[in-house]
Amino acid sequence: MKEIVKSVHIILKEENELNELEQQLVTAAKEATFRSYAPYSKFCVGAAVLLENGEVITGNNQENCAYPSGLCAERTTLFYANSKYPDVPVRMLCIAARDTKGEFTNSPISPCGACRQVMLETEHRFGKPIKIMLYGTDGTYFVDSASDLLPVAFDSNSLL
Ligand code: THU
Repeated sequence: MKEIVKSVHIILKEENELNELEQQLVTAAKEATFRSYAPYSKFCVGAAVLLENGEVITGNNQENCAYPSGLCAERTTLFYANSKYPDVPVRMLCIAARDTKGEFTNSPISPCGACRQVMLETEHRFGKPIKIMLYGTDGTYFVDSASDLLPVAFDSNSLL
């Protein structure tokens, strides 16, 4: 028997420790929460991605009365970015969320499993890691890549 341990390296930064670019992405993700369509959960999530061409693209969760037909902010944003610029790698992704009271969450918002899988596909597609920023008013988590958030992932090699 062997034991395999996978750990994740997370940096936690306070708002005043963010550099200009990081602050720009946080602001963009926060602003995107105000354009969410979340009449059912009233939980508004915004995402901002920085592309290698310097463009920042934002998106948010889009809900549906047939609940599973809705889509999370991360996937809305990545699918839009990749559909607009199919050849441009994604460098960074930041998410922020407002709770049912309309307040930004204190704890960093954590992406769901399906969004992690899509982030991972985007990394593999371009062969470059995506730096992930998870915003909360108490601080922002930084991880170096989507694969850190999804250890032991299903990937295309599994299909071979
Ligand atoms: N949601 C996101 O957009 N991203 C996440 O990382 C977690 C959850 C959305 C889905 C749904 O519209 C609402 O938040 C409540 O789950």
